[in-house]
Amino acid sequence: MALSTSRTEKELVRVHIRWMIRRDMPEVLQTEQESFEFSWTEEDFLRCLRQRNCIGMVAEQGEKVIGFMIYELHKNKLHILNFAVSPCYRRYGVGSQMVAKLIGKLSSHRRTRITLEVRETNLDAQLFFRQQNFKAVRVMRTFYEDSGEDAYLLQYRLADDDGDDFEETVNRIAQYEER
Ligand SMILES: CC(C)(COP(=O)(O)OP(=O)(O)OC[C@H]1O[C@@H](n2cnc3c(N)ncnc32)[C@H](O)[C@@H]1OP(=O)(O)O)[C@@H](O)C(=O)NCCC(=O)NCCS
Repeated sequence: MALSTSRTEKELVRVHIRWMIRRDMPEVLQTEQESFEFSWTEEDFLRCLRQRNCIGMVAEQGEKVIGFMIYELHKNKLHILNFAVSPCYRRYGVGSQMVAKLIGKLSSHRRTRITLEVRETNLDAQLFFRQQNFKAVRVMRTFYEDSGEDAYLLQYRLADDDGDDFEETVNRIAQYEER
């Protein structure tokens, strides 16, 4: 498929989303390295995916893997650990389709929320997740050991989730004022 850069002519790239298998690793690693300054190694992926509650999914167009997501199953929520779309396939709805797939795994009587940490400097991801109806619920100070950066904890809640808030919404300015 020819990818157009014109916003008006933009088409969505339809992807098939399935579980990640070992054979996907070279393409996943390539997207990982093209996406993050502090990227996971193959060993990081394998160590993570060996955990019983850890799941990998990929998005493929034809035979080509163009996106991946690693997430954990918790009692009441899903937690995204790693997620990226290959740079030349961004802004074609691939990330949205993967998040929609994850939202489809929630259920009102079991897992009602999705959470993830996003780097304070990763504005692209913040804008993407805001568009997917995630809300920032907490600032996690110096969360990343590599750069010492803060993280924003983002959360998506099912519309009929009537449980308590996962976290109190923290207003950073109010925090400073209180000290
Ligand atoms: C975040 C990411 C996965 C989004 O994937 P994607 O396939 O490009 O997302 P989509 O095409 O589904 O975007 C849907 C909407 O989100 C918003 N959005 C996505 N990327 C955006 C950006 N860079 N700037 C502003 N808005 C953005 C837009 O509203 C977009 O709709 P539009 O293109 O019609 O305007 C991708 O940018 C990526 O891989 N980034 C690098 C890795 C990363 O930061 N991962 C997240 C770690 S927490």
